[in-house]
Amino acid sequence: MCGIVGYIGNKQSIDVLVNGLEKLEYRGYDSAGIAVLDDNQNLDIRKSKGRLAVLEENTKKIKVNGNIGIGHTRWATHGEPSDRNSHPHFNSSKNIAVVHNGIIENFNDLKDELIEKGYNFLSETDTEVIPCLIDNYYKGDLLDAVKKTIARLEGAFALAIVSKDDPDKLIAVRKDSPLIIGVGEGENFIASDIPAVINYTRNIYLLENGEMAVLKKDHVSIMDFEGNKVEKEVYNITWDIDQAEKGGYDHFMIKEIFEQPKALRDTISPRITKDNDIRLDDIDLTEEYIKGINKIYIVACGTAYHAGIVGKSLIEKYAKIPVLTDVASEFRYNNPFIDDKTLMIVVSQSGETADTLAALRLAKEKGARTLAVCNVVGSSIAREADDILYTWAGPEIAVASTKAYTTQVAAFIIMALYLGKLTDNISDEKYNNILKELSTLPEKVEYILKDTSKLEEIASKMTEKEDVFFIGRGIDYNMALEGSLKLKEVTYIHSEAMAAGELKHGTLALIEEGTPTISLATQDHLYDKMISNMREVKARGGYIIAVSKEGNTSVEKSADEVIYVPDAADDVIAPLAIIPLQLLSYHVAVKRGCDVDKPRNLAKSVTVE
Ligand code: G6P
Repeated sequence: MCGIVGYIGNKQSIDVLVNGLEKLEYRGYDSAGIAVLDDNQNLDIRKSKGRLAVLEENTKKIKVNGNIGIGHTRWATHGEPSDRNSHPHFNSSKNIAVVHNGIIENFNDLKDELIEKGYNFLSETDTEVIPCLIDNYYKGDLLDAVKKTIARLEGAFALAIVSKDDPDKLIAVRKDSPLIIGVGEGENFIASDIPAVINYTRNIYLLENGEMAVLKKDHVSIMDFEGNKVEKEVYNITWDIDQAEKGGYDHFMIKEIFEQPKALRDTISPRITKDNDIRLDDIDLTEEYIKGINKIYIVACGTAYHAGIVGKSLIEKYAKIPVLTDVASEFRYNNPFIDDKTLMIVVSQSGETADTLAALRLAKEKGARTLAVCNVVGSSIAREADDILYTWAGPEIAVASTKAYTTQVAAFIIMALYLGKLTDNISDEKYNNILKELSTLPEKVEYILKDTSKLEEIASKMTEKEDVFFIGRGIDYNMALEGSLKLKEVTYIHSEAMAAGELKHGTLALIEEGTPTISLATQDHLYDKMISNMREVKARGGYIIAVSKEGNTSVEKSADEVIYVPDAADDVIAPLAIIPLQLLSYHVAVKRGCDVDKPRNLAKSVTVE
């Protein structure tokens, strides 16, 4: 979603801003802009609809000089994508410029109030009230005017602010939208995410909600919204920028698909001890606590939710604890049954998804203990949850999530085993077996990735299709949901996932001659039933692409194409069987000429409700 970068130092700020915004492109955006305090102490503001390249072109034609500036990539919420609605926004006399992530919920009231005072508005955005309010409160002290302004704002806001009247500083503000400060030597940075500044510094302050910072060239002071000083530790980034770049692959999505063996290894192996047991150093759930809870909630969005529903099956099976699941945007308004006997598990790659974060906070408020399965260290969700089980997938850049899903599922397999043992509901034989299977997953994924030519071939047959169905039973149905999401996200082909037994209650009417139907048949106990469902589709002319385990050759009689994955226990198959579905979506998207890493209308990090 929207990206923020700010710079104060000795470099030409335009270079740092554009470089930082490029690193945030993966979040998804539809316009971009910068405001630089130029050498004549005027704010030079350039904004344009479309890709960053358009803005760069603009700033090359007529150069922008100056060492202090802010930049933004916008993902439209209030007002269509346009030059006018792009950030930075400014007051009419153009002495204050602001970039904003989040939504100002009371902007209409504030706008009316400001219009009455004589302010003019150029855009349809909620953000424009902010520079006008700052101007309204400005009496010679920018920080004071910003404090008075944010006291009036309702909603979520991460802000970077520059003013020509206070030309030696930038101000950063964080409420419910992520923001970090990069600390350099003789220069400092603001960014909505770490990759934007990692080329310049590895020393970061993670702003908390309700905190703001004043950045000068050689000093950063952090305070709360009342102005009380906040002491903060510098956080050192240990991962490398190479990890966040394409490294020879055409797209981040395919790079991340191929990174899955490592991501799984890194997530699984630190949790398995030499004597074949599970160690969760980061989680502090005791036997007494687990035996005292009456249910678990698993709440997340998008792909993370799909990992969560696999988690539900496994936890219920191994630990015999009832698990309720919900998408975070619905959970909050569904009168959830949360109390102090509820364990609330939230799942999030980014750790910043607004709905998931709000669900976590709601559960905490209602007395639940909270556990996060999360990939980004230091993210809001990771910091606010009581316990955290990190997925060690490394930075995920492509909007379509791949390695985050497989590592989230691996984390749930680990957690289900752990809870099964704590509650004495899993036999030693089952526990040891699944644990053994779990550690072989990375090499099995490597095996699948060795030859992807068959999937490319099948992808060629699907490029012109308008509808694709995914069917499965049990965990296969959970995977079908994720496979279908992947396909629609990156190829824009309409797709639906169905519980295979449910097909004949309506959706079967949509099957025509040649309709691709991806049929997952990996669950031993449901195999025969699944074969019958495939036959029902085939009898109506559907083109069956089956995914099954090596050895299940009888599936060939009921399918037009079969993709085999290595044999594995039903409960650990998801991280394997999802790989062909990810690859299929990727290759269809490439063949259709789609913008694979940045699909239209979508964003990586959804920081608005
Ligand atoms: C966006 C992304 C998805 C992701 C979802 C949840 O929609 O495009 O890939 O699954 O948000 O994100 P999270 O960071 O919370 O896992």
